[in-house]
Amino acid sequence: MTSPPLRFGLVGTGYWARIAHAPVLASTEGIELAAVWGRNPRAAAELAAGYHATPHEDLAAFLDAVDGVAFAVPPDVQTPIATRAARAGKHLLLEKPIALSEADADELAEAAEQNRVASVVFFTLRFQPQMRAWLADVTAGGGWRGGVAAWFGSSLLESSPFNTPWRREKGALWDLGPHVVSLLWAVLGPVTSVTADAGPEDVAHLVLHHQGGPSSVVTVTQSAGEAARGFEAYIWGASGQSDAPTPPDDPAVPLRIALTELAQNARSGRTRHSCDVRFGREVGRVLAAAQRQLDERAAR
Ligand SMILES: NC(=O)c1ccc[n+]([C@@H]2O[C@H](COP(=O)([O-])OP(=O)(O)OC[C@H]3O[C@@H](n4cnc5c(N)ncnc54)[C@H](OP(=O)(O)O)[C@@H]3O)[C@@H](O)[C@H]2O)c1
Repeated sequence: MTSPPLRFGLVGTGYWARIAHAPVLASTEGIELAAVWGRNPRAAAELAAGYHATPHEDLAAFLDAVDGVAFAVPPDVQTPIATRAARAGKHLLLEKPIALSEADADELAEAAEQNRVASVVFFTLRFQPQMRAWLADVTAGGGWRGGVAAWFGSSLLESSPFNTPWRREKGALWDLGPHVVSLLWAVLGPVTSVTADAGPEDVAHLVLHHQGGPSSVVTVTQSAGEAARGFEAYIWGASGQSDAPTPPDDPAVPLRIALTELAQNARSGRTRHSCDVRFGREVGRVLAAAQRQLDERAAR
């Protein structure tokens, strides 16, 4: 006998909710897009109508109607709602970064832990089949001594649908940083320290030390412009270099994998996942430490 689909609610009605979360929630096996909440009731009604979901204005009623919640809102909006959802026993598909402060991330992670809800943070690179195959291949070997990763994005161009207020304020460190740190963490080991410096606009440079000795360097920006857009990552060691695959733009495949794994965990009562809220908190700690250094340098 097959179990009924898990009812998911979507928080957010913006571009990312419309192009990624809503269509993938509605088309992933074992999941139903049951409810939509947004601060703009008309946008919530319109988005919900396209998927025969129920729009909600009242957050409590929204949470009552679902088993899990997926988020497509800015991080400072996501964190308090996700904490409330976890306290109500709802499973969480979180966006990166999970919070903008360590205290908020701690509160969210503790709420998820205490209420034994399953969680997955959508670190996109970690759910792409090609990237997973590469990770499985290189981590089977070991002996890597270092890594280099650069992501030059263009979300801060005036014309980009991703040119949103929180990105303009927090820059690529908090937007692309989570993806890159989560990838280097998976391949070279837990990050034990970070040294950060800033370039022009939102350019952030990080030097990471990983448990056991490897080190890596990162450059991220969302101000690169169209011509310079690109992603590059490789690791190196005694056996040579290994290039990470270039991530495809389409978020549907990795998001479906993230949701499927979340639903499997929710059904089986497992809360641990390699990209769960606790890991999201660890990645956030690296970013917060980097931000403190950037702020100190800027104040000098
Ligand atoms: N994993 C990935 O590859 C990936 C890619 C893209 C985005 N994301 C993540 O998705 C999240 C949202 O992305 P985005 O910044 O590009 O936003 P977005 O898609 O433009 O959507 C923002 C949504 O949040 C709502 N919102 C903004 N401020 C709010 C507030 N104070 N209270 C309630 N709702 C509020 C907006 O409502 P209005 O429409 O009323 O303004 C809109 O529905 C971010 O965490 C981002 O990191 C992840």
